[in-house]
Amino acid sequence: MEPFNFECGTKLVFGPDAEEQTGIELKKMGASKVLLVYGGRSIKKSGLYEKVLKALYTAQLEVRELPGVVPNPRVSLVRDGIELCRKESVDFLLAVGGGSVIDTCKAISFGAYYDGDVWELISGKVKPGTRRIPVADILTLPAAGSEESDSCVISDETLQIKTGFGSPLMRPVLSLLNPKLTLTLPMYQTACGCIDMLAHAMERYFSPTANVEMTDRMAEGIMTTIVHNFARLIENPQDLDARSEIMLCGTFAQNDMTGMGRVQDWFNHGLEHQISGFYDIAHGAGLAVSFPAWMEFLADKEKCVMKLAQFAVRVLGADMNFENPMETALEGVIRLKNLLRKSGLPLSLSEAGIGNERFEEIADNMTLNGTQKCGAFYPMAKKDILALLERMA
Ligand code: NZQ
Ligand code: ZN
Repeated sequence: MEPFNFECGTKLVFGPDAEEQTGIELKKMGASKVLLVYGGRSIKKSGLYEKVLKALYTAQLEVRELPGVVPNPRVSLVRDGIELCRKESVDFLLAVGGGSVIDTCKAISFGAYYDGDVWELISGKVKPGTRRIPVADILTLPAAGSEESDSCVISDETLQIKTGFGSPLMRPVLSLLNPKLTLTLPMYQTACGCIDMLAHAMERYFSPTANVEMTDRMAEGIMTTIVHNFARLIENPQDLDARSEIMLCGTFAQNDMTGMGRVQDWFNHGLEHQISGFYDIAHGAGLAVSFPAWMEFLADKEKCVMKLAQFAVRVLGADMNFENPMETALEGVIRLKNLLRKSGLPLSLSEAGIGNERFEEIADNMTLNGTQKCGAFYPMAKKDILALLERMA
């Protein structure tokens, strides 16, 4: 096990009508002027917008609004939010939505206290300071895990770059989780969320660090629960018990509890951010294409095969073939692909409408023009990435 620090100060309020406590909770945390940040129409259509405003006004909080966050959230709106916070002396940010809305708030939160352009923070050129506007959220889409994570991901639409930054101070101070709010999610978004949270557990699980049994078992518990309840939701999207399990899994897959004491991989997320920087596809859809292909690619690598087989047995219920663990590892990939296919997610880049024209550029970006490798479970050289992209095509 590797040495580690772990600190997570997010207050979780989980249950039916959790959002009604927004005003009281924010007031207790010292808020007086709140910037309400959201995306498109979904929160107005569901009636959540009205409910939140009522809860904030009842607690006598002043409210300003920043709508218009889009999936793969843009730095241009982050800049607008920073300006608004400064002009209006906003002292709390409230994200109502999914990962894109929460990430926008996180970037505004640190950007408001940074004198230069916020892209310098996002792109890692400058380290974030210790001052930030606290962020709270009402989660409507279990997926990114941003409701308890210490990072955010933002795109610069003009540069076609999607990247992120983090800080231990970036975790939201309050997350309100009501699984009922996720019943309005279309199957495609539900599926994108399920593969994203599964991927968060997998990025940590597939680690080169040995003797991490406790966190392996925790990750397996999360992943098994995701797989089981994802299948239930494909059969019945209105299953509130399954929605509740999935919501909790999304938070715990990404709050880094299972990442303690181990080197983490994150190759697939790096690759997906490259792809969605260029093509603006849903984050989960990109992961549905890359993760199974990456597992297939590694199944014949001696240092990877046993962990892949362990995943196949413990998470996907495959039988262990001790004579031929590669067969077990590949059986796991087949089972994963079957689940993803059933949910309607793409399994190849062409199914996602993406061609091969930027493969070279993607591989160069991930390896600093071929000068370094990427990932920890199996460090991928430029030629490996090109071979993987061909497999994903
Ligand atoms: O804009 P509206 O109308 O609200 O519609 C949204 C949006 O179009 C819709 N939606 C959300 N809740 C809904 C709903 N529709 C119906 N009913 C509801 N209850 O869903 C669409 C997608 O929303 P988005 O926030 O983009 O999705 P998600 O939560 O998957 O977030 C994805 C973003 O998070 C980043 C990704 O890269 C991507 O940009 N990530 C953030 C991480 C983090 N901060 O820790 C880690 C992740 O790995 C990920 O990279
Ligand atoms: Zn993700």
